[in-house]
Amino acid sequence: MNYMDKNICIGDVVAAIPGATKVFDEFGIDYCCGGFRSLSEVIKNQGIDETKVYEKIGQTMADRQNDYQGSNFNEMSKVVLSAYIEDTHHSYLRKALPEVSELLNTIVRVHGKNHRELYDVYKLFGKLKTDLEQHLIKEETLLFPVLDQVLENEKEVLSLTGEIVTEHEAAGEILRELRNVSGDYHLPEDVCNTYRKAYSLLIELEQDLHQHIHLENNILLKQYVSR
Ligand SMILES: [Fe+2]
Ligand SMILES: [Fe+2]
Repeated sequence: MNYMDKNICIGDVVAAIPGATKVFDEFGIDYCCGGFRSLSEVIKNQGIDETKVYEKIGQTMADRQNDYQGSNFNEMSKVVLSAYIEDTHHSYLRKALPEVSELLNTIVRVHGKNHRELYDVYKLFGKLKTDLEQHLIKEETLLFPVLDQVLENEKEVLSLTGEIVTEHEAAGEILRELRNVSGDYHLPEDVCNTYRKAYSLLIELEQDLHQHIHLENNILLKQYVSR
């Protein structure tokens, strides 16, 4: 994320880089109730040293990436891996899903008449978005918190895992259908930049979701799947 962008608000920085709260505390920047304000505006209004704040946020982001990079997901504990998934993939979806939804809303109005497949893309994406939004909450509130107490909650973990894996399959199927109806995200010649952006974000979202589901199915929940 480009935290130096003048349109970025404080809450978005915290959502993408959780460690940034320490930097904001240090510089007296309110990120709770004042999270909707633009970071660059607040820096200016409070007379804060811009270079120092950006440097520290950059360092926090780099530290976090170093923590995760080269990490062997197989060796992470369930608590650490589920926190990583939440931090990285859930945060990503919470930003990307509304963004893509808004772009699709625009292009279906402008180009839907000439490119009727956009109606199918719009419908499928709407379903994917709704499904995933509840899925993320289910993982964060029901599944992840009991993963380190499996012995006491074995029945619950097994049943939840079954639901979660079925939901992953359904999401994977929607991704395949999206590719199918869009002709592998083929861009017609007469389209605008919003159309290009929507399709490129859909491709990025697909890649991110594949990695996300891989980590959950094949590593985090591996021992409970098909038991
Ligand atoms: Fe997840
Ligand atoms: Fe999941």
